[in-house]
Amino acid sequence: MATLLWRPSAKIGCNFSVDFQSKRYGRARNKVGINTVKLKIEEPKASEITPKTLYLDRRRFLAAAVGFGAAALSAEKISELLSPSTQAFAGNKLPAARSPISTTGEKLTPYEDVTHYNNFYELSTDKETPSKIAGSFHPQPWAVQIDGLVNKPQKLDYDALLKLAPLEERVYRHRCVEGWSMVIPWTGFPLKVLLDRVEPTAKAKYVAFTSVSRPAELPGQQRDVLNWPYKEGLRLDEAMNPLTLFTAGLYGEVLPNQNGAPVRVVVPWKYGFKSAKSIVRITLTDHMPVTSWNEANAHEYGFYSNVNPQVDHPRWSQARERRIGEIFKRDTLMFNGYGDFVAGMYKGMDLRRDF
Ligand code: MTE
Repeated sequence: MATLLWRPSAKIGCNFSVDFQSKRYGRARNKVGINTVKLKIEEPKASEITPKTLYLDRRRFLAAAVGFGAAALSAEKISELLSPSTQAFAGNKLPAARSPISTTGEKLTPYEDVTHYNNFYELSTDKETPSKIAGSFHPQPWAVQIDGLVNKPQKLDYDALLKLAPLEERVYRHRCVEGWSMVIPWTGFPLKVLLDRVEPTAKAKYVAFTSVSRPAELPGQQRDVLNWPYKEGLRLDEAMNPLTLFTAGLYGEVLPNQNGAPVRVVVPWKYGFKSAKSIVRITLTDHMPVTSWNEANAHEYGFYSNVNPQVDHPRWSQARERRIGEIFKRDTLMFNGYGDFVAGMYKGMDLRRDF
């Protein structure tokens, strides 16, 4: 029986050392599995995060998305609109161009917190243990099988995956269903690029994600916390939405193991549990797929799980959240603040029923 996501939010996040002074991303102090590097990137000022030209590009992007339907935009069109430059991938660094879809000028959550306060139940059900023991997990070599209702099923290894599209850095808000949040610079490319490559058939309506199953490396999988492997899913239009990021890095580096190495998805307008880590399989289906948390407790964790301050978790309010590193709670934003991009997908739906 799963228990941990059921902790009251008030208890969450009190163990943080806060680095209010930080003017840089900080030193990558990774105690597990990957090399330590010094990051040279300066934390951008709010005015730099969305320079005017990029802001205009974003408006152009939004206009195009509204005009043609975001899901109908080709990968080329999206690339052209965002025009990120291609960068080489070397060692554990993962350089990428800052995307204009970095929609927030909010202070980044320090690297230390992003990588040491994790939900990765395959490793542990508490937040601090994953970073301590993640060295037992060996996410290379790696491949992702993409299959189901597609014309061109294929298995792509890590290098092939990373060459599919120019890497972008997207700064996204990350809101956990438990009531805490972070702001994280992720590195990846739109999942749509990958899905277009396999050519979904007309019958494909949903996308199912399956995380890795390696009980020998992932001690959490030796316990019946969830019905392993971890499973998540999106509707096809959600998966194709330009915000949905196939993610290989954060803070300019490859993903640390505890953050879902080597590849995960990031779906920023949904509660964090929809963003499956360490993905090995992506399957297109004609039916709503089984997802781990819904399977564990459908009453508390709906398939959609869009961030919604008006729909409370049965045991706590979702109206406010604690940003990691801050003392006072702040209001939670509808769709986590990404309504411009995503609200249209839910027109006519009752989001209280389809929570
Ligand atoms: N994916 C897998 N495979 N296993 C998990 O336990 N936890 C989810 C999600 N993806 C989880 C997962 C939850 S509850 C959250 S909030 C986010 O990952 C946490 O991501 P982070 O540790 O990078 O912040």
